[in-house]
Amino acid sequence: VALPVVLDLTLAHGLCVAMTLPESDAEVLRVARSVLLPEERAFAEKQTERRRRTWVGGRVALRRVLDALGVEAGPLLPNTRGAPTLPAGIAASISHKETLAVALAAIDGEATRGVDVEIDAPRRVDVSRHVLTAEEEKLVAAQPKAARASEVLLRFSIKEAIYKALDPYLNRYVAFREVSVFPDGGAARVEFHLQPNEGPFLAETTYSRTGGLILSTAKVSSALRGQKT
Ligand SMILES: CC(C)(COP(=O)(O)OP(=O)(O)OC[C@H]1O[C@@H](n2cnc3c(N)ncnc32)[C@H](O)[C@@H]1OP(=O)(O)O)[C@@H](O)C(=O)NCCC(=O)NCCS
Repeated sequence: VALPVVLDLTLAHGLCVAMTLPESDAEVLRVARSVLLPEERAFAEKQTERRRRTWVGGRVALRRVLDALGVEAGPLLPNTRGAPTLPAGIAASISHKETLAVALAAIDGEATRGVDVEIDAPRRVDVSRHVLTAEEEKLVAAQPKAARASEVLLRFSIKEAIYKALDPYLNRYVAFREVSVFPDGGAARVEFHLQPNEGPFLAETTYSRTGGLILSTAKVSSALRGQKT
């Protein structure tokens, strides 16, 4: 038993799949029984129905990209920060929505990965003040009015992907305004406004709007890698 694949992409930051989540819990449990490892299944069975759907979907998607990379991995259980535990030398990330789970993975022992998916539709709440720096707000305000909500959501999505790739280095909550992103033609330039003792980091991002979705990826490494300290 697998889940329907809606996107199957080779992106600059790795292989990426998106899968449709089952509607019923019975189907989620059936998928869990046929695809997940026993430890993963045990974890899934302890979750609420709502959480089980997305958690199982994320694991099925991640297992699929790891298989496609030829990577054998043990149970993909959450680490203490909530990210999936990965084999050494593998960088990967998961994102999901109510109906969809996405995973991104690459063979890379030096740079981490983050992925985020959003439904590209207006939100009830305007999150721009929480998500954007003053400079980003100005740039978004200069866009045609109809495009603004989607432009805010795009920056939100890119920052979530960055957060997932950055967290393994910092192990702390990083507020949205501690990072600025400047999307341009499918990639966004990134500026960090972190604590003086943090970083420096190299960050690359990609984004696309496809099939009513925004899909963002991030790749982060230490800029000091290989340098003597
Ligand atoms: C952790 C966070 C990014 C997760 O986002 P979300 O809205 O729950 O939704 P998503 O579906 O996109 O992502 C969930 C997945 O993220 C992954 N994840 C959770 N915590 C993580 C962490 N600390 N590091 C990396 N990945 C993490 C998990 O795989 C999780 O799915 P799973 O529990 O089913 O395995 C978000 O809740 C958060 O705390 N953000 C911090 C603020 C931020 O984004 N700042 C941006 C500036 S850097």
